[in-house]
Amino acid sequence: MSLLQEIEKRKTFGIISHPDAGKTTLTEKLLLFGGAIQVAGAVKSNKIKKHATSDFMEIEKQRGISVATSVMAFNYREKQINILDTPGHKDFAEDTYRTLTAVDSAIVVIDVAKGVEEQTEKLVGVCKTRNTPMIVFINKLDREGKDGFDLLDEVEQKLKMKAIPLSWPVGMGSDFKGVYNLYEKKLVLFMPHSKQASEDVIEIEDLSDPILEEKVGERLAGELRDEVQMIEEVYPPFDRQAYLDGQLNPVFFGSAVNNFGVKELLDCFVDIAPGPLARITEERTVEASEPVFSGFIFKIHANMDPKHRDRIAFLRVCSGIFKRNTNYLHVRQNKKIKFSNPTAFMASKKTIVDESYPGDIVGLYDTGNFKIGDGLTEGEKLHFKGIPSFSPEQFRYIENGDPMKTKQLNKGIRQLMEEGVAQLFIKEDTGRKIVGTVGALQFDVIQYRLEHEYGAKCLYDPLNIHRACWIDAEDATEMKDFVSRRKGNIAKDIEGNLVFLAESRWMLQSARENHPAIKFYFSSEMNDEEQVQ
Ligand code: G4P
Repeated sequence: MSLLQEIEKRKTFGIISHPDAGKTTLTEKLLLFGGAIQVAGAVKSNKIKKHATSDFMEIEKQRGISVATSVMAFNYREKQINILDTPGHKDFAEDTYRTLTAVDSAIVVIDVAKGVEEQTEKLVGVCKTRNTPMIVFINKLDREGKDGFDLLDEVEQKLKMKAIPLSWPVGMGSDFKGVYNLYEKKLVLFMPHSKQASEDVIEIEDLSDPILEEKVGERLAGELRDEVQMIEEVYPPFDRQAYLDGQLNPVFFGSAVNNFGVKELLDCFVDIAPGPLARITEERTVEASEPVFSGFIFKIHANMDPKHRDRIAFLRVCSGIFKRNTNYLHVRQNKKIKFSNPTAFMASKKTIVDESYPGDIVGLYDTGNFKIGDGLTEGEKLHFKGIPSFSPEQFRYIENGDPMKTKQLNKGIRQLMEEGVAQLFIKEDTGRKIVGTVGALQFDVIQYRLEHEYGAKCLYDPLNIHRACWIDAEDATEMKDFVSRRKGNIAKDIEGNLVFLAESRWMLQSARENHPAIKFYFSSEMNDEEQVQ
């Protein structure tokens, strides 16, 4: 098969949701459709258990297992679909943010009763900064939940999406009869816990057909007719290009656990979702179809088992063909490096791969060479963009707990930061080191790993910071003035970029009001989309 045919075949995406909305269940049903797993429960056993929230070793153990399911590939309708697993656990949100840099589209799962929740909002926000095409799946229709139109309004308001329903529920909870597929004009009847059989799908070209009453009863038939009429009046017809541009979001309704509405979702996904997209570098845009290989590292997973201290760096292939045992340029380190055991993770099976194509994710065994965002190429010096550090939400001063081990401590901190476990900031006024993380659990992880992997000890001091924002200004004097006025709140990140440490939302707002020449950003790349509004 030619490179172009391989590219055509691939669709790489991630499923995002607030924990418990049904991401794991939906993933599993998709894999069952593709025949990648044979039994229900195979994915579930790899999920980080909810109860283990305070025990990070337990979570790490489970995360270790979940490395195997970091990418789950399956074939469906002649496509190779790569699902990138996104940890639902809030403390690993940054892992999820970074994984989203490696996808070409996303499916957002929302619980019909709970509506749009906090984690969904954050993750959709990250996708929106890149205009990632997103499809919404409203789940658990077998339970009582919110009204369909109210949910669409919530999606529009909280997620700032332009929602357009492509399916519509008939009843809900104990009354749930099925969904009407607006895209294909078919009624799909609900049979709890069954695989959808062909006789459960009724094609209804004209909704006034009395067969509707026969199938769902008079009341629901009437409701469906009214609602579909309203949808046709209010919502524009589906426009694929607008979806691909990240400007329009199709919405489906269903029940993942009952495998209901999942096939409609998957079929539409295969029809409309983009293949491997171009990636932007500081130098130029890299098209997937370019014959020369390039890729970047978006995630590094360290093994906490002391007997296996290896790290796995996850590479997204962006262009060309990545080949085993071939020398590639590690752009940041300006050195050639080759890989004898590049690994593909396919639904709990690890296999060594000889060749990988754009859209594929490859696991590379790493002894400390890689940092998140690193590029690999056949020789061209490309620096991939769009893999920024995200503004952390929890902060502590980090101090040396054993003065005899300063060197080990510094090395450990540097390597852990490169892995993306947390971010380090150095205060301008005192030179004190601050660690910033997305979740509190990471502080325990850092302390444990510094001690067990580097023989160093660290202590933490509390610190009250609301957000760290990267700052920039066109006028250097304005910046100098701001930095000298706010000295106590200024730090530098590991790359030497200036960061403003706001103690409260109010302080951030007042700094913005008093210094309009300074721009504040929630990510280190300082794109306009990530500017604090
Ligand atoms: P997550 O990965 O997003 O965290 O969610 P997950 O799939 O684990 O689903 C969370 C819970 O919601 C699970 O129940 C799951 O069975 C249930 N669920 C998923 N889809 C549906 C659905 O369509 N309808 C209903 N009624 N429930 C659904 P649990 O009790 O937490 O776990 P389990 O004991 O069932 O495994």
